[in-house]
Amino acid sequence: MTIGKIIDGKAFAATLRDKVADGVAGFVEATGRKPGLAVVLVGEDPASSVYVRSKGKMTVAAGMESFEFKRPDSIGEEDLLDLIEELNQDERVDGILVQLPLPKHIDEAAVIGAIDPAKDVDGFHVVNSGLLATGQEALVPCTPLGCIMLLKDELGDLSGLEAVVVGRSNIVGKPMAQLLLAESATVTIAHSRTRDLASVVHRADIVVAAVGRAEMVKGEWIKPGATVIDVGINRIADGEDGKSRIVGDVATAEALAHVRAITPVPGGVGPMTIAVLLRNTLVAAHARAGLAKPADL
Ligand code: GUN
Repeated sequence: MTIGKIIDGKAFAATLRDKVADGVAGFVEATGRKPGLAVVLVGEDPASSVYVRSKGKMTVAAGMESFEFKRPDSIGEEDLLDLIEELNQDERVDGILVQLPLPKHIDEAAVIGAIDPAKDVDGFHVVNSGLLATGQEALVPCTPLGCIMLLKDELGDLSGLEAVVVGRSNIVGKPMAQLLLAESATVTIAHSRTRDLASVVHRADIVVAAVGRAEMVKGEWIKPGATVIDVGINRIADGEDGKSRIVGDVATAEALAHVRAITPVPGGVGPMTIAVLLRNTLVAAHARAGLAKPADL
């Protein structure tokens, strides 16, 4: 039995961060200022806090300016919108990221809609999702863009391949499908209401699993030789020692016997997200300064 390849997202992300750091150096030389990324965190969710801290460190490591804004859960929507307007006007800020999810009393769409699309490094604003959907230059959501980079690195040309995206979120599933379509793949979006998911997945040369359910995609569903991108990050109790561990949306151990290649969890897609965020910030900085973006990004 042959075993598929494990795609090293961690190494790919490190290479991308190095390229971004080179691009930052060029930007500083050309403009006399550093690109700046502002991250807004509302509330104290531990996972979000860890993530935001990590973003801040990597932003600085890439040579950019990091601005962090922590606000209590109790913040009102108007106050949050005022903060975003300040960041829209701040010339030092090239990218604005509002960490999601937001507390229930705040309208997420209104907050995202208030971000200047030119600074929307998450690519969540309807202007950017519309540009992406119509095949125009856009700021593209970080996780799906990272997935496409890994797929193109593994497979080269994606044209004509059957791609199945499992999950239809605005953050991953929908933009992922648009990116695959832009690469001329034949794209199916499957989701919780899809009938006979196993056979839909079995058609695919490319499977992108982004449903947020631990090991839901079974190994035997995978067509032999398919490439699998596992976006899931699910914490589950580990029966053996009572501790918890992180698993993806794909039953990786089973899938390895079927795939050509698969991203592991952790160490696959996860590290790509922040690397692409830095890339998007650099791209936004170039656009705002009227400069062409570095060719290798
Ligand atoms: N929460 C989970 N993923 C993301 C992301 O990519 N961007 C933001 N802003 N919040 C998130």
